[in-house]
Amino acid sequence: MLAAQVSAFGRPDEVIELVEQPDPGDPGPGEAIVDAELFPINPADVLNLEGHYGAVPPKLPITPGSEGVGRVAAVGAGVSHLKVGDRVLLPGPGTWRARVKAQALTLFALPPHVDPRQLAMLRVNPPTAYLMLRDFVAPRPGQWVIQNAANSGVGHCLIRLAREAGLKSVNVVRRPELVAPLRAFGADAALVDGPDLDQRVRAEIGAGALPLAIDAVGGGATQRLARCVDDGGTVVNYGVLSGEACRVDARETIFRDVSLRGFWLRRWFMQTPPERIAALFRELAAKLADGTLAVDVEAIYPIRRIKEAVAHAARGGRAGKILVSFAEG
Ligand SMILES: NC(=O)c1ccc[n+]([C@@H]2O[C@H](COP(=O)([O-])OP(=O)(O)OC[C@H]3O[C@@H](n4cnc5c(N)ncnc54)[C@H](OP(=O)(O)O)[C@@H]3O)[C@@H](O)[C@H]2O)c1
Repeated sequence: MLAAQVSAFGRPDEVIELVEQPDPGDPGPGEAIVDAELFPINPADVLNLEGHYGAVPPKLPITPGSEGVGRVAAVGAGVSHLKVGDRVLLPGPGTWRARVKAQALTLFALPPHVDPRQLAMLRVNPPTAYLMLRDFVAPRPGQWVIQNAANSGVGHCLIRLAREAGLKSVNVVRRPELVAPLRAFGADAALVDGPDLDQRVRAEIGAGALPLAIDAVGGGATQRLARCVDDGGTVVNYGVLSGEACRVDARETIFRDVSLRGFWLRRWFMQTPPERIAALFRELAAKLADGTLAVDVEAIYPIRRIKEAVAHAARGGRAGKILVSFAEG
């Protein structure tokens, strides 16, 4: 069975390799076998290949990947809620392999007729945006939320989920050519990051309340968002795309009571009952089905071109996610 594997950390496209791994065999009682179809390459995967992800780097070798979509190939005795051919989320971590055996109870059939490319990206970015909007401050309808890296997968989900909840979003990017497309996508305001960001944000939102900022960048970008939120507001940091530690000045934390919090989806998965997790995925899959949620895809590579796919995913300036397919192509 074909799988991607990394045996030493380093430059992502150099360390990723394709290997043959043992087939997982037949499903035992309560188990299911899933054939992988598609997976995205996320920034966390790139960091993982570099050895920079998580509190402690994993023991090598590993098969990377935290999400994707596939079809049930076989079910074991006692499994009645799944049938062969059902499309399911790939159980992770380690999704960059052709076939996997899983406890069937951790799987559920996804709605048919939903674009599999979107389903392949359901597990990580949509719940991240959904939970960050609700679990820290829960802004009220009519209030504003601000985010940076707003053209990312998470950013696109957050724009649409905020709008659906009656919130308004200020969306910060690092490239001016993204402003118009983001507004067309549903952003109420879109601005290029810079030292006077807070003044430009206030010019956009007037006296509107802005209690929540969502930061994927870290470094000085965290401080620029912290300056934008109201007194007593919260900055939720969930990524460090700049590679720098978050900075928030004392004039925000001490004199304006602005808080900095962190969010990690994997921690939420570990702390949340499986039925609540499945309910959230059903809710978000329905939003994919009705078009509320949609993330652009820039390219799909066949698995045999995994090195090119990883190199492409690691580059900035993309117009969407990079997906990898197990279909021949
Ligand atoms: N904590 C969690 O549980 C969790 C869950 C999901 C995602 N994340 C994190 O969320 C972030 C976004 O993930 P994604 O999958 O949505 O990303 P994505 O779709 O792959 O897009 C990457 C984005 O990062 C931007 N970017 C890269 N380097 C940057 C920098 N130095 N300064 C500003 N922007 C930069 C890119 O902007 P350009 O287009 O201009 O290059 C692009 O918008 C990542 O850091 C990821 O690790 C965290």
